Amino acid sequence: MTTETALRPFRIGDILVDPPLLLAPMAGHTNVAFRTLVRELGSCGLVCSELISSHVLTTNPQSRKTRDLFDWSDREWPFAVQLFGADPAEMAHAARVVESAGAPIVDINMGCWVPKVAKKGCGAALLDNLPLATEVVQAVVEAVQVPVTVKVRAGFVPGQPTAVDFACGAAKAGAKLVTVHGRYAKQGFKGESDHTIAARVKEAVGDRMLVVANGDILDPHSAREIVEQTNCDGLMVGREALRRPWIFAQLAHTLCGHPPPNERHRPLSIARRQVELTEKWVKKPEKIVVRELRGQLLPYRLGAPTHYRNEKRAPLENELRQLLVKVQTFEDLENFFCHAETRLQK
Ligand SMILES: Cc1cc2nc3c(=O)[nH]c(=O)nc-3n(C[C@H](O)[C@H](O)[C@H](O)COP(=O)(O)O)c2cc1C
Repeated sequence: MTTETALRPFRIGDILVDPPLLLAPMAGHTNVAFRTLVRELGSCGLVCSELISSHVLTTNPQSRKTRDLFDWSDREWPFAVQLFGADPAEMAHAARVVESAGAPIVDINMGCWVPKVAKKGCGAALLDNLPLATEVVQAVVEAVQVPVTVKVRAGFVPGQPTAVDFACGAAKAGAKLVTVHGRYAKQGFKGESDHTIAARVKEAVGDRMLVVANGDILDPHSAREIVEQTNCDGLMVGREALRRPWIFAQLAHTLCGHPPPNERHRPLSIARRQVELTEKWVKKPEKIVVRELRGQLLPYRLGAPTHYRNEKRAPLENELRQLLVKVQTFEDLENFFCHAETRLQK
């Protein structure tokens, strides 16, 4: 395998994903503004909405919180809309709703481990009930015309990987792609992502279905190792994209033969752009949007040296974080950025 073309563009149904580098769905973060930002920075082949409850969509279709998640537009093409739920009929219904609202791909969440979701048998809990998990996939595939993908963890209980058996059932049920986060549900985010699971999934279903590896992709070096270890078709990046949304261009250069990214990104100006996009596209009251933005901007290493790796936070970073958590309005945010600019120039 030559490193320049370690990954090649692929199609989900007839939707081209080029480069095969995906932004992970992350509740509370990957709203329309962040997805648009990642798109602007380039080299991300597919983005995904935050997770949407099929149960709420079915039983309380006008729920404001759920409807706020219907924030996608064709500007983000191609994108997926993610649903979660453990009732095949509700999942089928929800899939039809998001399809008619323009979703070009429906993704099923079987990776969420948080008790609110998993205790109801949804998300990663389905990996502990493979017959039901397969039934859910089948119901969604039969409900919609658009391609269906699934995002899983290695399994539910550590040491008991069920992702491989699940993927075999999902491929048979007609899912087009599976993303494998190599942690078990019970691990949460502890430990490391075990990419041997994605490798085994690829070996088992790679002739029928696309396989994307996910978990702990931090830089081109770790990404290349994971591609070599798993032989996967694509990579999905989560938390590192919150810290450095421009990471996709670096990965595309190393793995897909794209030209080297020539721009030196400054976290501060990218964060500022995220605020602009939020003001433009997120239709919620200012108080709520700014509260959400505080959490969304914290992962940026504002005030860190341009070429930081994983060093401890610099004193200036801590100072800026303490100011950021106090902002209440867009005006406060603008003042924060002006202050940060001045401090960075010193
Ligand atoms: C704040 C946060 C929210 C997340 N929300 C979702 C979600 O809505 N749907 C989902 O499938 N995974 C969700 N995840 C999991 C990520 O998509 C991804 O699988 C995980 O972070 C591992 O990838 P990483 O090591 O690149 O971060 C979330 C992760 C984080 C950190």
